[in-house]
Amino acid sequence: MSKTIIVSNRLPIRIEREDGKLAYKTSEGGLATGLGSIYKEGDNIWIGWPGISLENEEEDEVEKELMNRNMRPVFLTENEVQEFYLGFSNQTLWPAFHYFIHHMRFKEEEWEAYKKANQKFAEAISKWIEPDDTIWVHDYQLLLVPEMLRKQFPNVTIGFFQHIPFPSYEVFRMIPWRKKLLNGVLGADYIGFHTYDDMRHFLSSCHRLAGYSYNRNQILVKNRLVEVDSLPMGIDYGKYADSASSQLAKAKEISYRDSLGPQDLILSMDRLDYSKGIPGRLLAFERFLKEYPEYQGRVSMFLIVVPSRDQVPSYKALKEKVEFLVGHINGKYGTINYVPIHFFYRSFPLDDLSAFYRMCKIAMITPKRDGMNLVCKEYIASRETQDGVLILSEMAGASKELSDALLVNPNDEAQMVLSIKTALEMPVAEQKRRMNIMQKTVQKYTIFQWVDLFIGNLKNLKERQESMATK
Ligand code: F6P
Repeated sequence: MSKTIIVSNRLPIRIEREDGKLAYKTSEGGLATGLGSIYKEGDNIWIGWPGISLENEEEDEVEKELMNRNMRPVFLTENEVQEFYLGFSNQTLWPAFHYFIHHMRFKEEEWEAYKKANQKFAEAISKWIEPDDTIWVHDYQLLLVPEMLRKQFPNVTIGFFQHIPFPSYEVFRMIPWRKKLLNGVLGADYIGFHTYDDMRHFLSSCHRLAGYSYNRNQILVKNRLVEVDSLPMGIDYGKYADSASSQLAKAKEISYRDSLGPQDLILSMDRLDYSKGIPGRLLAFERFLKEYPEYQGRVSMFLIVVPSRDQVPSYKALKEKVEFLVGHINGKYGTINYVPIHFFYRSFPLDDLSAFYRMCKIAMITPKRDGMNLVCKEYIASRETQDGVLILSEMAGASKELSDALLVNPNDEAQMVLSIKTALEMPVAEQKRRMNIMQKTVQKYTIFQWVDLFIGNLKNLKERQESMATK
């Protein structure tokens, strides 16, 4: 029986030390939910890093425990975490792919570490591969893995999905190891991106940097047909809609409202990341309060920043900048009974998130650049009464599907300021009209459809490749 192997840098579980013992925390993330229906079945497995450095004897314990959960760990050393994960993945590829070229760095030793770590993943995968298996590799940390597997298993079925943007050729070509990265991904049969533009940029780089010609979305790589596609990822709509309409979420909303007072709330929720545009959003809110003083005391921002990669200097600096701006704005516009920005630097469980999604009349999701952005889809799914306004950046992949949001250019401060006013003043009937359309879209293309579509297209392509080979 053939099986499916899912591979990503992180496993859908986080291991933490609690009172000297190892605690296993299941990931609530969209990908983990969507792929749950695959990796938990039969002999299927998920291979990845458990997110913690362990002693040797602990590694044996973790390996056994994860075996029962259909997972296989790849353990990274402290040095690999520094050079492969925090280094090349997050200080070369991440800034390049999000157009933050001033944050990019090119260190040969980090490139070497990236290659070695990808090799380590490929070796961990090879231990479990059988010829008829399907391997689905995820994201920018593992761009070289498809080619490494292809060399060892020429006929195996490999899919690759990139969860972050793929930059224009002009930016991608700045990376010294650009051609090796492209050839790495092209080891896959089927390559998915969130948007048509990402796909177009990838094809253009394949052509201009690696010399491959392509026809529509097809590339011939050493006589092997490779297909590139755009498949926007969705969420588990039912999970968010049900949670938001639960008694618990409603009770929490009432109790939070009692403490907060009657102000209209603007939700801002992201991982700590410069790509998310948090300072720009804060500055737009400050300017809004200045230009429309009648709103002072009547509208607050509910700012949630989830800690992430805080050992990387640019992330540390961002945290300081956000803290400075929140202090500055609250100091300037706050009164005894008015807090302009309620700031939380932590993550929250789903019940709380649902209560927040319920109580915020506006969600302001204005990344400078984002592969997709699922928070805006979660907000939409959680609006039980269909009122509420989404202010969404044109630079988020989700904007391609959600044209009924108030779309803004996150670099246009004046437009962002105006969009806050428009959102606050939008008639309820108009809010509902827009929300209704967006709910239909988000409900139709869920994470489950996304998984089925990817796997279906990959299998279909494999059959076409086989029939081409027998002709
Ligand atoms: O958006 C890409 C992504 O890798 C997500 O899959 C993940 O949730 C997020 O970035 C944070 O990644 P990490 O904590 O693994 O660096």
